[in-house]
Amino acid sequence: MEKDKLIFDIIEREHQRQKKGIELIASENFVSDDVMRAMGSCLTNKYAEGYPGHRYYGGCQVVDEAETIAIERLKKLFGAEWANVQPHSGAQANMAVFMAVLKPGDKFMGLNLSHGGHLSHGSPVNFSGLVFQPVEYNVTRDTNLIDYDMMEEVARRERPKLIVGGASAYSREWDYARIRKIADEIGAIFMFDMAHPAGLIAAGLLDNPVKYAHIVTSTTHKTLRGPRGGVIMMGKDFDNPWGKTTPKGVIRKMSSLLDSAVFPGVQGGPLEHVIAAKAVAFGEALQPEFRTYQQQVKTNAAAMAQAFLDKGYQIASGGTDNHCILLDLRSKFPELTGKLAEKALVDADITANKYMVPFDSRSPFLTSGIRLGTPAITTRGAKEPLMGEIVEMIDTVLHNPENDAVIKSVREKVNAIMAGYPMFAW
Ligand SMILES: Cc1ncc(COP(=O)(O)O)c(C=O)c1O
Repeated sequence: MEKDKLIFDIIEREHQRQKKGIELIASENFVSDDVMRAMGSCLTNKYAEGYPGHRYYGGCQVVDEAETIAIERLKKLFGAEWANVQPHSGAQANMAVFMAVLKPGDKFMGLNLSHGGHLSHGSPVNFSGLVFQPVEYNVTRDTNLIDYDMMEEVARRERPKLIVGGASAYSREWDYARIRKIADEIGAIFMFDMAHPAGLIAAGLLDNPVKYAHIVTSTTHKTLRGPRGGVIMMGKDFDNPWGKTTPKGVIRKMSSLLDSAVFPGVQGGPLEHVIAAKAVAFGEALQPEFRTYQQQVKTNAAAMAQAFLDKGYQIASGGTDNHCILLDLRSKFPELTGKLAEKALVDADITANKYMVPFDSRSPFLTSGIRLGTPAITTRGAKEPLMGEIVEMIDTVLHNPENDAVIKSVREKVNAIMAGYPMFAW
């Protein structure tokens, strides 16, 4: 029996919330019992500053094995030549790359945050925008697809040292070869942050940025279905991504620059319990069942997008190639903010988050969109027919965002449905 009843009661209430509701946050998932057990293991007790075989603490011989397995499995999963599994989060992974390839004040280019980019790709309130100098590219107004012509034009004009690809709310495939070409033309490093679609990429259902980018970062907890955390990888360019244009004074290999940027650059001791859980998750992702799961994630997202389109909803970019849908509420509900839509849905035990749509006139606190994703609900076993039912329920809530009786009846339906979709045993 746990001694801290207060906290363990809270954990149980959160467990019930997760079990009873429909989880549609695009960046969330439900990890397996084994991933959970590894995270809750005695490895949390161990200090292991440094890397396997080169630690600043004694007694690391056992955790060295887990970290080495995590690295090897990750490399195999994405066909990488080199990997670092220590970043505590996706933002930490990105910060380490920035530290390795830029100096304070250097210029880099990332996707406009209000067009789906991430905070760590140049927000003025994040290290990326505070310490470095961001310039941005957009999606186009008519297609909402990445504006590669603009990327090229800004790259030629501004000559950023780093080009960052990747997004938090972009539901289409990327043209990695085109970005690499732009980067090569101006002698920039191309980093791709695949945090969102990593699981689909691991399963071979989307193209793999490791084949094109100099450096690839990711989180491990979204579609990849591991513990919360980050990773960094390199493919063919791991030795000297600058080629003949190596900046003066840079003599070390990029892989050791990145290792040093993670530790001691931006982090202290690695979370060896989380690294062991990453190893477990990567092992799961190497199994054939993982591909079946990711295929269903994609199929479910496509089915959900179609059901919304059939009801006259507008979706940014008109649909999805991955796990994510950005619902643009402006045409169907001009008065409804993402903020109110999110609250009404959460009250109905359907969890999603408000999101800015491209060229949104509302602020990030209000927004005109809702971001939806299928990774978590698919882990619960959901298939296409449930996507239709979910869209019906969301539609009912969005037509009645302040009607308590309607919301209550949807919530009861949600809870009844989810009782038939088991979670992992924990
Ligand atoms: C594209 C992208 N990169 C990085 C991150 C940051 O990950 P974390 O929250 O683990 O720092 C996110 C998180 O949503 C993301 O969407």
